[in-house]
Amino acid sequence: MSGADLLILTLIILLLISLKLILRPHPTKIPIKSRHVFITGGSSGIGLALAREAAAEGARVTILARDMKKLEQAKASIQVSTGTEVDIVSADVRDFHAVKTAVESAGEIDVLICNHGTFLPYEVENMEMKGIEDIIDVNLVGSFGLVKAALVGMKKRKDRRPVSIAFMSSQSGQVNQVCLTGSSFMFIC
Ligand SMILES: NC(=O)c1ccc[n+]([C@@H]2O[C@H](COP(=O)([O-])OP(=O)(O)OC[C@H]3O[C@@H](n4cnc5c(N)ncnc54)[C@H](OP(=O)(O)O)[C@@H]3O)[C@@H](O)[C@H]2O)c1
Repeated sequence: MSGADLLILTLIILLLISLKLILRPHPTKIPIKSRHVFITGGSSGIGLALAREAAAEGARVTILARDMKKLEQAKASIQVSTGTEVDIVSADVRDFHAVKTAVESAGEIDVLICNHGTFLPYEVENMEMKGIEDIIDVNLVGSFGLVKAALVGMKKRKDRRPVSIAFMSSQSGQVNQVCLTGSSFMFIC
């Protein structure tokens, strides 16, 4: 290898190292033991499974959904399987005031999981506008409301440990079928 080749190789390696340092986000492990995990749509399906998992790992868990009866059933089932009591809060993510109140009453959040979601199994051309508007209200506007409500407190955390906001998505967002599913469709459409 000539001196010029070596120089180019060194420059490339330096460039790659610089990019790794500069580019965001960095993969970060978020510890959840003894930390507060707030999960929307936590009364059933994927949200309930996540809540159970987080509780089993020692997190303080709050689950949010609309139906209080389902929330209470979810709480009881998590208590039976993990021995941990989770907090439950009823709110419709379309109601920003209710979401803000729920987030504030839950206390400081370390990990917010926007998992709530509604889905219409039709191609866009076969959807009613009302259905599309409902999905946007719940999945998109509802997620923005949650983030807006939680972000101020999450940014103010003084313990300097990493915090995280996650959005549940769906493969449906990657195909033409329904580009409007999953809380994070705004990032994949
Ligand atoms: N299941 C799948 O195969 C699949 C695949 C890919 C992605 N996903 C995505 O994963 C997420 C969870 O799916 P899932 O199948 O587990 O859902 P699910 O069992 O239908 O549960 C939906 C949860 O969201 C809550 N929710 C719905 N509308 C709400 C609203 N307006 N305000 C507050 N909470 C609301 C529901 O409770 P209430 O009705 O009581 O409010 C429930 O707790 C969704 O974002 C979905 O798009 C699901």
